[in-house]
Amino acid sequence: MKKSFPNIRLRRLRNNSPIRNLIRENVLSAHDLIQPIFLIDGKNKTEKIKSMPSIHRMTIDLAIKEIKILQKLGIQGIALFPCIKDKYKDAYGSESYNDDGLMQRAIRSIKKSVKNIAIISDVALDPYTSHGQDGILSPTKKILNDETIEILVKQSLSHARCGVDILAPSDMMDGRIKSIRKALENNKFVDTKILSYSAKYSSNFYGPFRDAVGSVKNLGASKKDTYQMDFSNSKDAIREAEMDISEGADIIMIKPGMPYLDIVSKINSQFNVPIFVYQVSGEYSMIKAASQNKWLNEKRIVLETLMSMKRAGANAIISYYAKDALKWMK
Ligand code: PBG
Repeated sequence: MKKSFPNIRLRRLRNNSPIRNLIRENVLSAHDLIQPIFLIDGKNKTEKIKSMPSIHRMTIDLAIKEIKILQKLGIQGIALFPCIKDKYKDAYGSESYNDDGLMQRAIRSIKKSVKNIAIISDVALDPYTSHGQDGILSPTKKILNDETIEILVKQSLSHARCGVDILAPSDMMDGRIKSIRKALENNKFVDTKILSYSAKYSSNFYGPFRDAVGSVKNLGASKKDTYQMDFSNSKDAIREAEMDISEGADIIMIKPGMPYLDIVSKINSQFNVPIFVYQVSGEYSMIKAASQNKWLNEKRIVLETLMSMKRAGANAIISYYAKDALKWMK
């Protein structure tokens, strides 16, 4: 280093904003962001989510209004999550493939009223099971892999029939991408895309989401460690990505976001597939709480976190801050 100085002064390229703008490697645009939307039944109604200030569950009619606003801001995609009443939940999550269920009605109505937006639907059983797990249980309470896949396939086909653009299996059962892809092909849904949550960690950052979809009390003290990944590992994430790509996934998701950027970077350097990153509920709530206390500058922090995900290799980011970020970027 001593020898190169003063010929090389790295600060030379930082000393005014035109230069910084010209040499910048990554940009964040409206095309990079996806807004999650929590759905409830009814009309013209919203509900606050205690652990996620400023985020609301909403009925389909209001979701459509919201999506139109998001579209004016330039958004290209939305991710739908249902919060259904307890009376519709059972041990098998059967409501998940009801063609007249909340998700199915939402997909159909949004498709009808909003053109040119990618609808991403969550494929998983946890909003529908009386026990809050993403899989069905054996008598000894083990999560049954292959039996769960049968239900996920039904759920996927039901969303595909409604015209969903992207199915996003977030359940972490082994082999589900293969089965879902095969069912889509057999039923002529050749254009339905699969965004696989490949590297989904068993994370404590999902707490507020479980509150939002109403699975928190059903889940109780049970954990998801037998199917979601151990956060001490990274080789496992590479194998998950490899497996899902070979089974027919079009896009790979990594989740949570910021604490897992090493995984994003690794997967990005090893595979030639698009990568989405999910800035999850706990990440949102941490930033929100600190911002409300004026401990952090919300706008700057959010844009920095989103850029860090782009830098690591994300093509797009699912974030509860998508709408705010779009406004701030204008
Ligand atoms: C459900 C699912 C979860 C999230 C997305 N899909 C929660 C979980 O696995 O318990 C988390 C999203 C977030 O925290 O924002 N299969």
